[in-house]
Amino acid sequence: MDNVIISIKDLTKTYKLGHNIVQALSGASIDVQKGEFLAVVGPSGSGKSTLLQLIAGLEKPSSGVVLIDGVNLKTLSDRKLSRFRGQTIGFIFQFFYLQPFLRLSRNIEVPGMFARLKRKERQQRIQQLAEVVGLTDRLSHFPSELSGGQIQRAAIIRALINQPKILLADEPTGNLDSINSAAIIELFEQIRRQFGTTIIIATHDAAIAARADRIIYIKDGAII
Ligand SMILES: Nc1ncnc2c1ncn2[C@@H]1O[C@H](COP(=O)(O)OP(=O)(O)OP(=O)(O)O)[C@@H](O)[C@H]1O
Ligand SMILES: [Mg+2]
Repeated sequence: MDNVIISIKDLTKTYKLGHNIVQALSGASIDVQKGEFLAVVGPSGSGKSTLLQLIAGLEKPSSGVVLIDGVNLKTLSDRKLSRFRGQTIGFIFQFFYLQPFLRLSRNIEVPGMFARLKRKERQQRIQQLAEVVGLTDRLSHFPSELSGGQIQRAAIIRALINQPKILLADEPTGNLDSINSAAIIELFEQIRRQFGTTIIIATHDAAIAARADRIIYIKDGAII
């Protein structure tokens, strides 16, 4: 049990839309080991994003338990939860949200500011991470001046600025061609080697999933 960093048990999530009830997740349980690279695969609407958002504490489950690094997320106040999340989890959104009016370096820096990382430390980490993903010469650009693949790499290093133990990536290669997708997966592997980060990615792409240590299949909100 001591090597388990993420443990979810009987997790359900129900959305109510007027009279409609959507069962986005129906009783998911998984344990993820420290340093594991896990892929969550399933068709559109199967509950992949919901699962990642519950693990990150971005959404609250309708029932069930999420334990991250031994902490039951349910026991944290909203303020403590967002602080815990900021320090422990890096999240790459399916539709990554870089701020269009901020230069790349500032976009990457923002989560570090929320985590009260010192300015000098933030600058050092930005330089180091930008070098890893080959964005050093784009840091003073605005997102509109970058390619899709460059924006995606920026979203990834932004999720790493606080050196999280856990990296959750929702369709991180969704908008990329196969060469760029392969480069992103290599980047994840490098991150794991370098920092021991536990990584979970949600993906439609079987070739991407094949690079993970373990694949979890999800259908209609259930792990199969
Ligand atoms: N905020 C919400 N309100 C209502 N229903 C939602 C909400 N978010 C997701 N759903 C529904 O929950 C189900 C699971 O959605 P989810 O986004 O987790 O799927 P997904 O596997 O990530 O799909 P995709 O591959 O298209 O990204 C879908 O039927 C979706 O319509
Ligand atoms: Mg999704």
